[in-house]
Amino acid sequence: MCEKRLAGKNALVTGGSRGIGRAICLRLAQEGAHVAINYASNEDAAKEVLALIEADGGSGSLLPFDVANTSQVKEKISAFVKEKGPIQILVNNAGITRDGLLARMKEQDWDQVLSVNLKGAFNCVQACARDMMKARWGRIINIGSVVGTSGNPGQANYAAAKAGLEGFTKSVAKEMATRGITANVVAPGFIETDMTAVLPDKVKERLLGEIPLGRMGQAHEVAAAVSFLASEDASYITGHTLHVNGGLVCQ
Ligand code: NAI
Repeated sequence: MCEKRLAGKNALVTGGSRGIGRAICLRLAQEGAHVAINYASNEDAAKEVLALIEADGGSGSLLPFDVANTSQVKEKISAFVKEKGPIQILVNNAGITRDGLLARMKEQDWDQVLSVNLKGAFNCVQACARDMMKARWGRIINIGSVVGTSGNPGQANYAAAKAGLEGFTKSVAKEMATRGITANVVAPGFIETDMTAVLPDKVKERLLGEIPLGRMGQAHEVAAAVSFLASEDASYITGHTLHVNGGLVCQ
C-alpha cells in the first residue's frame, strides 16, 4: 500500500476506464486522492475501475464526457466541482490513434487525432485552471508519447498532437507558475495496453529489439511517474517531459 500523499485532493483522469488511464486512477486513489474517472463510452469498464478503487478502501466518481467536446467538458466538470469540490490534479490521458501514411491520410483522421489528443487537453485545462489558480495549487499532467519527440512513420497526426502537447504544457507551466500550479508531460514509450495490442507482431518484435531494457513497459510504471509529478515531492518540477520508455529514446 502506498503512502497517502494525495489525501484530500480531487484528481480527474481522462480516459480512465482502461489501459494507462485505469492504472493512473488506481494509483492516485491508493495514494488517497478522490478520483474522477472520465470515460467516453465504456461505462462497464469505468464502473469496474471504481469498484476496484472502493474495494481497496479508496474513493472515486464516474465522470463521462468526450474530451473533444468543449461545452460537454465545461458542463460535466462544473457539475462535479459543485458536488465534490475543485479538481486539484488533472491528468490528460485520453488519446486515440488513426495511423496511416501521410500521402493517404484522410483529413478526418488528422482532425480527430488532434481534437482528442490535443484540444481535449486544452478543454480540460481551461475547465480546471480557474479553481487551481484560486487555490494557488494545482498539478497538470499530460500524457504525451515518445513519438512526440522521435516522430514515427504512419503517425504524422499522432506525433504532431503529442509534440503539440509538449509545447502546450511548457506554455501552461510558464503562465501558471506564479499561482503554484505545475504542468508536466509524462511520455510513455511502448506500453502493453489495448492501444499497442493491435500492432502487428513484426512491428512489436522490431520495437522490442530497439528497447535497451528489452521489454514493453507496464501501465503501472507510467502511473508511478504520474503519481510522483502529482505529489509534493515534485513541487519544483514544471514544464518538464518525463520519459517512461525503457531507454527507447534517451533525452
Ligand atoms: P487506450 O486506447 O487503452 O486508452 C485510451 C483511453 O482514452 C480509452 O479509455 C478511451 O476510451 C479514452 N478516450 C478516447 N477518446 C476519448 C474521448 N474523446 N473522450 C474521453 N476519453 C477518450 O490507450 P492507452 O495505451 O492506455 O493510452 C493512454 C494514453 O497514453 C494515450 O494518450 C496514449 O496516446 C498514450 N500513450 C500510450 C502508449 C502505449 O504504448 N500504450 C505509448 C505512448 C503514449
